[in-house]
Amino acid sequence: MKDGIVGIGVVGLGHWGPNHVRVFSQCDGAKVVIAADPSEARRKHIAKLYPQVRAAGSAQEVFSDKEVDAVVIAAPTKTHYALAKAALAAGKHLLLEKPFCSRLKEAQELLRLAGKKKKVLMHGHVFVYNRGIQYVKEGMRRGDFGKIQYLHATRTNLGPIRCDVNVIGDLAAHEFSIFDALFGRLPRWVSAAGARVLKTPREDVAFLTMEYPEGVLAHAHVSWLHPQKIRTLTLVGDKRMVFWSDTDTSEPIKVYDKGVAEEPYYDSFGEFQLRLRDADVLAPKLYQEEPLKLQAQAFICAVRERKRTLCEPETGLRVMQCLEAAQESLRKEGRRVYLRSRVKGEG
Ligand SMILES: NC(=O)c1ccc[n+]([C@@H]2O[C@H](COP(=O)([O-])OP(=O)(O)OC[C@H]3O[C@@H](n4cnc5c(N)ncnc54)[C@H](O)[C@@H]3O)[C@@H](O)[C@H]2O)c1
Repeated sequence: MKDGIVGIGVVGLGHWGPNHVRVFSQCDGAKVVIAADPSEARRKHIAKLYPQVRAAGSAQEVFSDKEVDAVVIAAPTKTHYALAKAALAAGKHLLLEKPFCSRLKEAQELLRLAGKKKKVLMHGHVFVYNRGIQYVKEGMRRGDFGKIQYLHATRTNLGPIRCDVNVIGDLAAHEFSIFDALFGRLPRWVSAAGARVLKTPREDVAFLTMEYPEGVLAHAHVSWLHPQKIRTLTLVGDKRMVFWSDTDTSEPIKVYDKGVAEEPYYDSFGEFQLRLRDADVLAPKLYQEEPLKLQAQAFICAVRERKRTLCEPETGLRVMQCLEAAQESLRKEGRRVYLRSRVKGEG
């Protein structure tokens, strides 16, 4: 590291990689040195925007570059394991895009290698740096919503349709990372149903259900075949309910003072014992910052000062466990797959 500035190399310059080049170029304490992609068109695109960044046709050129302290991998998922292994073997710190890898075993191997090499391994679950998700997390910690009753998430759009992972590996990875940030642990079980509507070898639409501690059900709808770009989370508590919408830039969070309370004076049974409470809706002001930039800053701090991030490798491993369980459930036509069965003999 020269003068405390972290030299960054970016691997993969498709749709997402250029965003990493941009945010790291804007970060204090970092300098994007080199960026690689086998596609000449993508290299030219970056060279035009960032003439100071060297272009490379192969990732190996990034890994062997002495000016590079840390590597960001934003290439397709199927390449993650081999590229990440090579980067760590070359002694580079690593920010690896989601999903971590194609298989849990690969993620475990990367964790071991990063530990052995004493290098930072951060995974790119950027939504844990989203201010709206952080508001929900903080509210849960303070008990603002009361006892959590259930959660529902939606993540849909028309495409992009990927060729190396199905919609669960692509989109549900975000949902699992958000639920992990909220609960800090694995669900008890995961069940997934999906469809290959477009007749490709991969599911493009899926519905997932999980059970978190104290019997809290969480549901997620993920789809590449939907008329609207939706990224929402609804959390229902017995005190309040909260709704997050990433695409609502003016009021991404709404807290509903709504619920169902027991009627104190009815001593008969049935519907008379419950009454609806329907009060105010609050849209708290959030100080919005680009989550990808916050993630990049956290990575730089981790490399320079060994500060912990919100994307520690252990959380990435739990997300991988959830993804693998969801894929297993998909193959078994939606049967529940118990995550802690491997530890506790459940299920
Ligand atoms: N965190 C997020 O919100 C988010 C958003 C989008 C994509 N992603 C992730 O980023 C990764 C890339 O997604 P994308 O949408 O940019 O895909 P993409 O297909 O648009 O781009 C991938 C690029 O990687 C290049 N590439 C392929 N093999 C390579 C190799 N061996 N070395 C260097 N470059 C290589 C390709 O030529 C292509 O330009 C995926 O893992 C995806 O899941 C994350």
